[in-house]
Amino acid sequence: MIRMAIIGCGAITEQMHLPCLLSMPEVTLVALVDHDRQRSDELAAKAGRSIIACPLEALSGLVDAVLIATPPDVRPHMVRQVADMGLHMLCEKPMANDVAGCRDMIEAARSARRVLAIGHMFRFYPVRRTLPALLVKHELGRLVRVEASEGKPYAWRSRTGYTVLRDKVPGGVLFNAGIHTVDSLLWWLGTPSNITYVDDALGGLESNARITCMFPNDLHCTYRISRTCHLPYVFTFHGEAGSLSFATNSIAAYSVTTNARTTRYECDGGPKNELSCWQDQMRDFIDSIQNRRDPLVSGEEGERAMALIEQCYAMKRQRPLPARAPLPGVMW
Ligand SMILES: NC(=O)c1ccc[n+]([C@@H]2O[C@H](COP(=O)([O-])OP(=O)(O)OC[C@H]3O[C@@H](n4cnc5c(N)ncnc54)[C@H](O)[C@@H]3O)[C@@H](O)[C@H]2O)c1
Repeated sequence: MIRMAIIGCGAITEQMHLPCLLSMPEVTLVALVDHDRQRSDELAAKAGRSIIACPLEALSGLVDAVLIATPPDVRPHMVRQVADMGLHMLCEKPMANDVAGCRDMIEAARSARRVLAIGHMFRFYPVRRTLPALLVKHELGRLVRVEASEGKPYAWRSRTGYTVLRDKVPGGVLFNAGIHTVDSLLWWLGTPSNITYVDDALGGLESNARITCMFPNDLHCTYRISRTCHLPYVFTFHGEAGSLSFATNSIAAYSVTTNARTTRYECDGGPKNELSCWQDQMRDFIDSIQNRRDPLVSGEEGERAMALIEQCYAMKRQRPLPARAPLPGVMW
């Protein structure tokens, strides 16, 4: 039995982390921490089961591990503090605001010999976990092109609003939401080259972004993300003999098109709803603590996704800003 606390009692804690932890017999949720004490008191009272609200410093001896669901800017300092208290850590994505912060976190966990896992929870969706096997099973041949897109007007109601505050984050939609897709692409396909990046930022945070790159074996990839426009939420993998697609939020469903015929499938095994995917993430974290192994998404993996995004932002800084903003309402 692992005793846990959640640090950061915002939107994602209320919607997913609390229901997830409260539904798992292998975890005891002991405490909630937030620097807005009224908020942690409120959520603790709502959760019941003698869960307490307390400051971070009070967690020593009280818990074995923490789930850190604050905004990313505070995490490098917090992870150092928590690792020094001897606690294992599952950190929400994006791991930190930059690669240097990610490295500090990895070093803090390594020197304290604690597990550091990063919450790229889409990796626990069965269709994503089994993608390489599905591509082989359906005999699509060599992959030649991958396309991914996702977009709709931004509506996530975070408590702090940090995702649109320039002094809190290094970027907009790519950093905040696109990092999930970046992580999956790197996980499946390896290290990209020939990267191009464009976005619509005029000195502020981007709302639209596009990456093109080459993955090993001449695999061309395009990725488009928006928080102002409606775009299809879909991944498509084009092979020499057909293509395989699934929706960004698909848990098990996917479709295969060969010879102009599309057939829908469900992949085997694994969890079948969103909550059970989050529970699987937590089980992986617990198992990595108990069996002293790396979690599925280690700190190094979190850093890798952050490094690609940092590389993209460096490209944008080299580009001159346009003299005037695009016309409002025009699709980017
Ligand atoms: N995996 C997903 O699908 C997913 C979805 C949404 C959010 N997230 C991630 O979860 C994290 C939190 O997002 P959110 O939307 O819940 O944010 P939020 O603004 O709603 O909540 C953040 C909470 O952290 C608290 N906080 C800030 N600094 C703190 C500190 N130093 N100590 C203690 N508490 C502190 C705030 O008071 C707030 O209650 C982000 O990293 C975000 O990217 C992940």
